[in-house]
Amino acid sequence: MSEKKNNLEHIAIIMDGNGRWAQKRNLPRSAGHKKGAEVVKEIAKEANNRGIRYLTLYAFSTENWNRPKEEVDTLMGLLRQYLKSDFSELHKNNIRIRVIGERSMLDKDIVAQIAKLENDTAQNSGMVLCLAISYGSRLEIVQAAKKIAALVKKGDMSESDVDIKLFSDMLYTKDIPDPDLLIRTSGEQRISNFLLWQSAYSELFFSPTLWPDFTVRELDDIINQFNSRERRYGKV
Ligand code: FPP
Repeated sequence: MSEKKNNLEHIAIIMDGNGRWAQKRNLPRSAGHKKGAEVVKEIAKEANNRGIRYLTLYAFSTENWNRPKEEVDTLMGLLRQYLKSDFSELHKNNIRIRVIGERSMLDKDIVAQIAKLENDTAQNSGMVLCLAISYGSRLEIVQAAKKIAALVKKGDMSESDVDIKLFSDMLYTKDIPDPDLLIRTSGEQRISNFLLWQSAYSELFFSPTLWPDFTVRELDDIINQFNSRERRYGKV
């Protein structure tokens, strides 16, 4: 890796291309998701080894609920499996797990597993692996606005208290710094309702690689490119 230039605390990834990876091999889409989930474990372990403090992965969006039931079931099945057993390996690596998203839409057993994993790993001092599950940025922002409106209505807060810091604290990502680097795989160049507020000043990288083929080597390469970018945050 080249010498560190920019501070890189938080990487966020839109893991796209599982379906196309499977299609290219004449496999069912579920095979792509399965391989994609293996890559999640590897990238999380290696990001932690590289001293990254936060890694946020878009695992399931609020819009993904509209996919065929069979595919939703596959993704929820994988999640169940990973929350129950595979992520315990990450726990051993001192990684802390956190989940952002609309839990009310998830099955009760998955919500319980998430709470258990968050609790079991809460004292870990390594990287925070933040999984965006049933996550949609617009919904997150609407929920934050509703919370603030309710507090103002109750008289617990006045309109003049509302500023950027307070609004940020109403989001699922409270206490998580904004991503420095946002990567999307598979060649698509859009944000797809992911961390819209939080990515205001993130550096964006679009990789042509399909997520199941994404490697630690490519991550290192992107980090090197990130280090050579000049971040100005609107200043000169
Ligand atoms: C996008 O590929 C990917 C998803 C909708 C889900 C991402 C899920 C995983 C990587 C596996 C599960 C994760 C965990 C944490 C266990 P796509 O299906 O939209 O691909 P396509 O655009 O090629 O069809």
